[in-house]
Amino acid sequence: MSEKKDVQVVRGLEGIYVATTEISRVDGEQGRLYYRGYDIADLVNNGNFEETAHLLWYGELPNRKEYETLRKHLVNYRFLPDNLLKMLPLLPKGTVPITAIRTFISALAAWDPWAEDNSREAELENAMRLTSGIASLLAKVYRVSIGKPIVEPRLDLNHAANFLYMFNGEEPSPEATQAMDAFLILYADHGFNASTFTARVTASTLSDMYSAVTAALGALKGPLHGGAMEAAMRQFMEIGSPENVDAWFEKAMKEKRRIMGIGHRVYKTMDPRARILKERARALAEKSAEPHWYEIADRLAQKAANHPYFQERRLYPNVDYYGALVAYYLGIPPELDTIMFALSRVTGWTAHVIEQHADNRLIRPRALYVGPDPRPYVPMEERG
Ligand code: CMC
Repeated sequence: MSEKKDVQVVRGLEGIYVATTEISRVDGEQGRLYYRGYDIADLVNNGNFEETAHLLWYGELPNRKEYETLRKHLVNYRFLPDNLLKMLPLLPKGTVPITAIRTFISALAAWDPWAEDNSREAELENAMRLTSGIASLLAKVYRVSIGKPIVEPRLDLNHAANFLYMFNGEEPSPEATQAMDAFLILYADHGFNASTFTARVTASTLSDMYSAVTAALGALKGPLHGGAMEAAMRQFMEIGSPENVDAWFEKAMKEKRRIMGIGHRVYKTMDPRARILKERARALAEKSAEPHWYEIADRLAQKAANHPYFQERRLYPNVDYYGALVAYYLGIPPELDTIMFALSRVTGWTAHVIEQHADNRLIRPRALYVGPDPRPYVPMEERG
């Protein structure tokens, strides 16, 4: 007996509103993204990542005193517990990087005296600990994986510069710091994407923020969500040189292959994040020994923009198209791109956990049962 037939099942929850949020607004038609009412372009042009994180967590941009307090906390949390650091080399060589990060982020909870505390005060603190923690973890896990000594955090650098310093082992240029800062701002939140929704479902059981972020990392790992940045970079590498773009594009069209980093479920015009990251990628390319990656991407985007197939379907470059280039020029190998995404999105995930816990309702939808009708139990000996 299957369940009542008159219900409508919406696969993938597409187009379904499941909650309200005050954190971000995605305007797909106009190609705009706002964090708590501020246009992301204004935040990138006038502010920095620390201010944006404050905005997402507390609801307002910080005044000078609030900014300094937040900065101090983020700096303190760059230092990870000694015993956690001892665990880093214990995972087998070749462990998938995001699996390593997901494991250590989960483990970090064990050293956090407030990990089980879901009060707003504790969660704001834990949001800072997780944001600094994941950046330090990525830098350290990477350096351990390539057999280089780990680099201790600096107290004087901002979040973006300190991460690049710990990752690459040298102080980044002002252009690199600005590009990293923009990257961190632009990936921070984006409505009810799959990993954010996962974080909210976890938080809605009144589970803790670490569990929510660990679950979100699991959702982000999938190629349909956090994997597109790496795929875009690998596609540029496959093309190899700007002269190959035209032939590669014709072949891709013939084979009905998707161009990674193009198209978006919500944006039906240029993704506003892509517009900003394109400029950052161009600036980094000009100073790089490998400007051809930008040239390949630029030429491929032009080919797509001029082709009726992409025009008719309103397919434009998305954040990952140029995000991939920015990450590459900052020295990040493509296999770490998904974690770069997480370095920024952790601010959104944690802001959503705080918002969920402030007015919680267990998220528990229904599934329409379409399996076998009720039937008698058959003893094992009588089964075919
Ligand atoms: N290259 C070629 N054709 C495409 C592409 C593409 N990148 N994207 C969509 N199409 C075509 C698709 O084949 C379909 O054509 P038709 O109508 O003839 O069947 C039409 O456009 C609509 O595609 P869809 O899959 O129904 O659209 P969607 O809203 O489900 O997909 C998407 C959105 C992002 C999954 C898709 O555009 C895609 O696969 N892009 C490449 C992967 C990518 O860049 N992902 C990153 C997404 S942005 C991340 C973020 O916001 O955090």
